[in-house]
Amino acid sequence: MSIGARIRDMFRMAFQLGNNWISLAGTALTTSSAFVLVWFWFMELTSPRQVHPYAGIMFFLIFPALFLLGLALIPVGILRVRKQRKAAGEPVLPLQAVDFNQPSVRRLLTIVGVLTFINVSILGTAGIKGVEYMDSNRFCGLTCHTVMSPEYTAFLNSPHSRVGCAQCHIGHGAPALVRAKISGSRQLFAVAFGTFSRPIPSPVEHLRPARETCEQCHWPQKFTDDKLIIRTKFAEDEANTASTTILLLKIGGHTPNGTTGIHGRHLDAMERISYLSTDPRRQEIPKVTYREENGTLTEYVTDDFKTMPKEKLEKASIRNMDCIDCHNRPTHAFQLPDRALDKAMMEKRMDTELPFLKKKALELLKVDYPDQKTAAAKIPVALAEFYRTSYPEIYKHKRAQVDTAGEVVKAIYMRNVFPEMKITWGTHPNNIGHEEAVGCFRCHDGGHTSADGRTIKGDCDTCHTLLAQDEKDPKILKEFGIKQ
Ligand code: HEC
Ligand code: HEC
Ligand code: HEC
Ligand code: HEC
Ligand code: HEC
Repeated sequence: MSIGARIRDMFRMAFQLGNNWISLAGTALTTSSAFVLVWFWFMELTSPRQVHPYAGIMFFLIFPALFLLGLALIPVGILRVRKQRKAAGEPVLPLQAVDFNQPSVRRLLTIVGVLTFINVSILGTAGIKGVEYMDSNRFCGLTCHTVMSPEYTAFLNSPHSRVGCAQCHIGHGAPALVRAKISGSRQLFAVAFGTFSRPIPSPVEHLRPARETCEQCHWPQKFTDDKLIIRTKFAEDEANTASTTILLLKIGGHTPNGTTGIHGRHLDAMERISYLSTDPRRQEIPKVTYREENGTLTEYVTDDFKTMPKEKLEKASIRNMDCIDCHNRPTHAFQLPDRALDKAMMEKRMDTELPFLKKKALELLKVDYPDQKTAAAKIPVALAEFYRTSYPEIYKHKRAQVDTAGEVVKAIYMRNVFPEMKITWGTHPNNIGHEEAVGCFRCHDGGHTSADGRTIKGDCDTCHTLLAQDEKDPKILKEFGIKQ
């Protein structure tokens, strides 16, 4: 049979057998979903409000699925009737001649053609919108609210809050997308049955290589000048005495004369350094391999490594160092209570004249609350209570400041501690630096030596120049013109 004849036969069948309840239900389902979808897209275009994540699931995923289901039901109904007819011995095709020259049949064909075109357009739009939606920050961050809440909260407060989750976690291209969707479906089950781990384990084992993510926006050869860091700390005394540390970090990178500084020495041509770690969190690093400028490989090992039992070595993993080995919390940066309070006080979000504010706030932050709700209720009340009983005069005159401080301390807790996900202070250590976690000193501790007796440098001026350390009123700030 020629293709033309086949198509004609199919149309005949559709005309004559389409009038059954399954196909009609399919048509109704498809048409009504199509109306809902088009209405929703119109609202989405014209309304300034963002779609609620659960409404998103409804309109980006469920309605398009119903639309498809309806479309699929139409041929199912037709085939079923055909089968029934066959079983009853009735003729299946052609039932009666359909004259394609008749105007009414032509009109019907035109309608079918237009409807098919509309359906394909709706399906395409729904497909694109669905994928886009599943890659959106709100879907990733809010749909499984409790699970992603720590990462989403930290993300919203980071320099990357306008970068998509997908840009770091999925990367470019269709294979990456498919892989992500497969693992996403597995995660959906874990959430539905509550079997996900608390906290979500870190590091993420199958994170895309930095080359496909970070480096799309920050290229490693770019030279970065020294970075000035000014950090003010407040003591836990009655006056919350302030002191300032100032350092110039030698970030460096690629220069015409070779590579320098923190970025240059580890990364320039990438894969310059690989290391072996004996724990899943990559905190214990007994062996580091470094490719020198001239290409030779140098191994730096700790004394421990030389006597390490074989079973432990077999469990160890080897990794090429990239951005994430230092910047492991570029966006999900959880703070420690001390530094978070210093920052809030430095930015004058709290009145630093409230006596013992730092000490008391620190104490309240470190209490083991059962959940965020309890913490949110207790922290401001406890702080107010402290001033009411210990400093009634101050409490009387500075009621508003005490209340503000209570709210700020509460906000610091809510941003960093998630008892529901077993995330508390320091659960996810930040590898930048060495004050809050071991960080750079995992390798730069002076304990990693090569066969020829060199060590990975750990002197204080290897990575930065300390311009002031815990000084009350650093002279250098005046010289910079930052302070009068
Ligand atoms: C700038 C890049 C970047 C963006 C944007 C980003 N992440 Fe991450 N994320 C990371 C890195 C890097 C890690 C791995 C940390 C590690 O391996 O130590 C991570 C880890 C995680 C983890 C594992 C647990 C943890 O805290 O380490 C979760 C869950 C997560 N991200 C969710 C999200 C969600 C949800 C979004 C969007 C709201 C998002 N991420 C956006 C870079 C990013
Ligand atoms: C889609 C682009 C994009 C991607 C992907 C991206 N970043 Fe960024 N990154 C930015 C932008 C934009 C800023 C903010 C620059 C600013 O504030 O001036 C930034 C800032 C930073 C900063 C400076 C933070 C600070 O405190 O000022 C670091 C460090 C950083 N990114 C590291 C990373 C790492 C590591 C990755 C990969 C895990 C990554 N970025 C992925 C766009 C990106
Ligand atoms: C050996 C550790 C290390 C590695 C590896 C590393 N960085 Fe950094 N990077 C640092 C340190 C330390 C800083 C300064 C930290 C700070 O701002 O507190 C920094 C700063 C930055 C900044 C901010 C610069 C500025 O002027 O504020 C960006 C952006 C950045 N890194 C991106 C990257 C990217 C992308 C990679 C991977 C190609 C990478 N880094 C690899 C240690 C590292
Ligand atoms: C996995 C191990 C490892 C980690 C982690 C690491 N480094 Fe390094 N770093 C090295 C090795 C190896 C060298 C090259 C040693 C040599 O020069 O022989 C090096 C060299 C350097 C140099 C150049 C020193 C010089 O004068 O030649 C700087 C600066 C530096 N690292 C800073 C940092 C900072 C800052 C961090 C933390 C954010 C850090 N490193 C984390 C392994 C590491
Ligand atoms: C391998 C590189 C490296 C070496 C070696 C190193 N530091 Fe640092 N240090 C850093 C980095 C990176 C930061 C910035 C971390 C950040 O942005 O929070 C830092 C921050 C600091 C700070 C400010 C921290 C704060 O927030 O109060 C002090 C103080 C400091 N270093 C002292 C020292 C002293 C003292 C030594 C010598 C024993 C030393 N460092 C050796 C990399 C290094």
